[in-house]
Amino acid sequence: MNANSHFSAARIRGFGTTIFAEYTALAEEHGAVNLGQGFPNFPAPDFVKEAARDAVAADQNQYTRYGGHSALVQALAAQAEIDLGRSIDPWTEIQITSGATASLFAACQAFLDPGDEVILFEPFYDAYPVDVTMAGGVPRFVPLHPQADGDWRYDPDELRTAFSPRTKLVFLNTPHNPTGKVFTRPELEEIAGLCQAYDALVVADEVYERMIFDGRTMGRIATIPGMWERTISIGSAGKSFSVTGWKIGWSIGPSPLIAAIRSVSQWMVFSVATPLQAAVAQAVSLAPSAGYYEELASMYQAKRDRMGEILDAANLKPLTPDATYFTIADTSAYHFTDDDAFCRWLTAKIGVNAIPPSAFYSSAHKGLARHLARFCFCKTDETLDAAAERLQQLSRAGG
Ligand SMILES: Cc1ncc(COP(=O)(O)O)c(C=O)c1O
Repeated sequence: MNANSHFSAARIRGFGTTIFAEYTALAEEHGAVNLGQGFPNFPAPDFVKEAARDAVAADQNQYTRYGGHSALVQALAAQAEIDLGRSIDPWTEIQITSGATASLFAACQAFLDPGDEVILFEPFYDAYPVDVTMAGGVPRFVPLHPQADGDWRYDPDELRTAFSPRTKLVFLNTPHNPTGKVFTRPELEEIAGLCQAYDALVVADEVYERMIFDGRTMGRIATIPGMWERTISIGSAGKSFSVTGWKIGWSIGPSPLIAAIRSVSQWMVFSVATPLQAAVAQAVSLAPSAGYYEELASMYQAKRDRMGEILDAANLKPLTPDATYFTIADTSAYHFTDDDAFCRWLTAKIGVNAIPPSAFYSSAHKGLARHLARFCFCKTDETLDAAAERLQQLSRAGG
């Protein structure tokens, strides 16, 4: 399906369906184990579900404050004060949106004029270039290159030359989907310096902030001197509490920037599901003292390690992620012409669904993903075992 009817506005013509819709259909057609789309296939935590049931029963069922449910913005402000090391005004410095997705869209509508340029690191989350072009902006792509040590790095010269006097926004996704990269403090400082030199804003997409492994911590660009004033930090309850279907996300930043995002959000959705916001408020308040975030990270770290073993055994070299719930594997042992051909074959013939990362590159750079595949490990141990069993056919094939 694409949006190419003669009724369609020019700006949306050519937007196809997302790669996830295409590959989910392919997985269903072939009865494949689905390691494609990033959603947990295990139950959400009981304390989160109970909070939602309680909120519905307590009749928190009408429109709420359009900036966000009072309990939720207060809970997020308390958490953000710890994460960002500054005091946060829940009423003017936080906006609740329909998932992180709507924060990203609203930021582009709020800050881009036609012809404004936006820096996107590749591979990118697939909504970014669409959000930018729908707002009339122009993406400027900066590839992350995989290194021998498993890290992904940008070339500082490529980054510098991507900036111009028209640069208005930088999308910074850390921890990064799909590479699992956590941007280092020196990298954040370099990006911050360029943003200040070119008077650009940062959209810091931090939805994987609670899934970081091996005792690492993440740096937050908003904490770099001079950056709070020009950064919107975005989070998602869907990721942190395994409730992707709830679509509760948020933007945190200085009040003039949040006011601009709010003005888009109020006309797009007005307000977001009240009882689910009440439930997320409870979850955000209870999570730290319950040790919930540590448990989440250690569960995903164990799944990351299992995914690595499974891929290794199948001669698919994992580029071990430091965070998130995705592993990119190097498929070059199998000599396919490109990543789409490999992932289609893997789904149809081996019965395991992975996503071709070229979907996350601009057309000029798709070749960089030719020998890569993205596997998602936010799945039950049974699902991972089923994938392991099917992938054994590959180890026998030898690659
Ligand atoms: C990097 C990134 N940003 C944003 C989102 C969207 O988050 P939400 O489901 O809260 O809209 C995702 C979901 O996969 C993501 O990976």
